[in-house]
Amino acid sequence: MDRGVRQLLAWYDRDCRSLPWRQRVTVYHTWICEVMSQQTTLAVVLPKFAEFIQQLPTVDDLATCDEEKLRSLWAGLGYYARARNLKKGAEFIVSHLNGCFPQTYREWLQIPGCGDYTAAAIASICFNEQVSCIDGNVVRVVSRLLALQDVWSAAGRSRILDYLRQIIPSDRPGDFNQAMMDLGATICRKTKPCCDACPFQMQCLAFANNCIEVCPPKKPRRAVVDIELFVLIFWHRETDTFAIANRKSGFLAKTLGFPLIQSDRLPETKSILTSNPHFYLIELPGKFTHRITHHRISGKILASQIDNNLNDDAIASVGQKLGLSQPLHWINRIDLETKFATALDKKAFQLFQKYSSVNSIKTLDVLP
Ligand code: ADE
Repeated sequence: MDRGVRQLLAWYDRDCRSLPWRQRVTVYHTWICEVMSQQTTLAVVLPKFAEFIQQLPTVDDLATCDEEKLRSLWAGLGYYARARNLKKGAEFIVSHLNGCFPQTYREWLQIPGCGDYTAAAIASICFNEQVSCIDGNVVRVVSRLLALQDVWSAAGRSRILDYLRQIIPSDRPGDFNQAMMDLGATICRKTKPCCDACPFQMQCLAFANNCIEVCPPKKPRRAVVDIELFVLIFWHRETDTFAIANRKSGFLAKTLGFPLIQSDRLPETKSILTSNPHFYLIELPGKFTHRITHHRISGKILASQIDNNLNDDAIASVGQKLGLSQPLHWINRIDLETKFATALDKKAFQLFQKYSSVNSIKTLDVLP
């Protein structure tokens, strides 16, 4: 075994972080923690992981859990699509594999929603398969070990994978992967790395060449795309209820929230709603901003008070004309906030409340 790897594992045995999923390693716990940890900090993951496992202790529980419960268990972790994919994966395991977890990297890749990183983490940690996982911490460690600058391209990534393949030990692949992640998180940090405590110090080329700060270079960012989005808030004033839908496509597809209209569909939407006298439509004056990956969204509100005389069928037919997914769910003001899975809906509703309660009068009629 490579000398540095031996020292890395000795360091891990001595100093590894005490994480709940390491105390008693199970496939289910490893799967959940690895999915939760992607793009989310450990400080946020730890309490959410404990609650998730307590509420949904088995893959069966996850497969049968209702959407609302899943959303509340995931609230605060972001990227809700990950939770939906976990559930899809659990349903697949229960219905197609009789509830038995796959045991290899290749088999895990067949599970809906399971990507390369998750498959490699589970296969190595739970089944001792000699496959490497690469997260941001591991990229940084290898970039410094080899003084590599080109790490973000496909060629750079395969260079890192090749190197990891050469050094991953056959007897402790899971510990090796986790040790690399821990090393990146605690010693080989982005800023102020503790090189004197690093088990790889002797063989680190960036340390030897005094170029730690530039390894790896900043990840090139995708160009920001500006989008104007209209949030459609149907408000039934008499009952103080609001319409939300399971969004079919476009931004935030498959999440529950207010219908969203892109600016190219604005004229058509306005014309459908203003031609119906039962919908009292107003474009609110304020704006909010929101980022989704590289999209910078400028959000505006189209608020429509629904006339008391309008029945559900008539509303559904207008919804259909607008291309909204059916059915619209009517939710009261208090319950509404607990149903939101996305920050965008929260921001939109805050803005709506600001304008609909001018001078404490709960009506849109008084708007400027
Ligand atoms: N980050 C995500 N998964 C991890 C793990 N298993 N160990 C350390 N850090 C992690």
